[in-house]
Amino acid sequence: LSDMAYVLGIESSCDETAVAIMKDEQVIVNLISSQIDHAKYGGVIPELASRLHQQNIVYLVQQALEEAGIAGRDLSAVAVTQGPGLLGALLVGICFSKSYAYALDIPLVGVNHMEAHILANFIKAPRPSFPFLNLTVSGGHTQLVVVKSFFEMEIIGQTIDDAAGEAFDKAAKLLGLPYPGGPQVDKHAREGDPTAFSFPKAEVGRFQFSFSGIKTALLYLLRDGLKGDPDYIQKNLRDVAASYQHRIVSILIEKVEDAAKEYGLNQLALAGGVSANSQLRADFMAMCERNGWEAFIPSMAYCTDNAAMIAYAGYHKWKAGMSSELNLSPYTRV
Ligand code: KG4
Ligand code: ZN
Repeated sequence: LSDMAYVLGIESSCDETAVAIMKDEQVIVNLISSQIDHAKYGGVIPELASRLHQQNIVYLVQQALEEAGIAGRDLSAVAVTQGPGLLGALLVGICFSKSYAYALDIPLVGVNHMEAHILANFIKAPRPSFPFLNLTVSGGHTQLVVVKSFFEMEIIGQTIDDAAGEAFDKAAKLLGLPYPGGPQVDKHAREGDPTAFSFPKAEVGRFQFSFSGIKTALLYLLRDGLKGDPDYIQKNLRDVAASYQHRIVSILIEKVEDAAKEYGLNQLALAGGVSANSQLRADFMAMCERNGWEAFIPSMAYCTDNAAMIAYAGYHKWKAGMSSELNLSPYTRV
């Protein structure tokens, strides 16, 4: 056991309490407890999220150790999401991790959640090599990132308002679909006509994104439709979902393709929850193929929030001697 490195990863930035364990470069345990309690409120309630993390975290760590067949004293380091995320939610993971690292007298490693999403591309083969271009699309962020090494990432563009995931979630809410909305829009879009409705494309900087106008267009479309027909949403749900999704995905694809050309990068990766979207995955693969580029997409479990990506990033930071002090503080924004 002694020559193996076991690194514990803790993620509590939003509404998933997640714990993973790495055995050297391998993820051997990846547990997640999704907080479905938020569904009845139609979105994440921050204080509720903190409380649920608080209830779950110790048991989830115990279960992870059990599944790995190790004890806490076998761990070499504890990696934890430092930010961005909800303050109270982050604090639960951070306070636990600090105490645990202190008690075990092992290093604590703070991990940036957005960088970890990108590094999820390395958990399983095929893996990209540096440098590559990453499109990060999550509930809170939309970023084009030139990834130069595990720890050197340059954000070359991002959204000026809503994130792609937010645009999906808000649309779902307007359409009366349950939270979280992204997978719901994806599901209904599969049976719809993506050309049935046209949604606007914002005029923003070359590598910038803006999704708030699309959401507003949807609001007006539904409001006008409902005036003439109370069943308007029900009748048009699939076509609206498909058209709305098509607009978001086509903007994402267009921008990432342009950036790859500008920066001369021929390896492209996706990261974050929205990379679970079936249309985005398919169009991304097709776009890369068209250009003769290599495409990388994490497997589903590593696209949405998880602790494997935190453990993976933490393992590499720990190996590189980049551990944190015990006064580590959360940050809520990038
Ligand atoms: O990365 P993530 O799990 O959490 C954040 O760090 O924000 O991303 C969550 C986002 C949510 O907005 C969710 O609706 C979206 O990812 N999402 C999807 C799909 N699955 C998750 N959006 C579109 N299609 C999907 N299949
Ligand atoms: Zn995330």
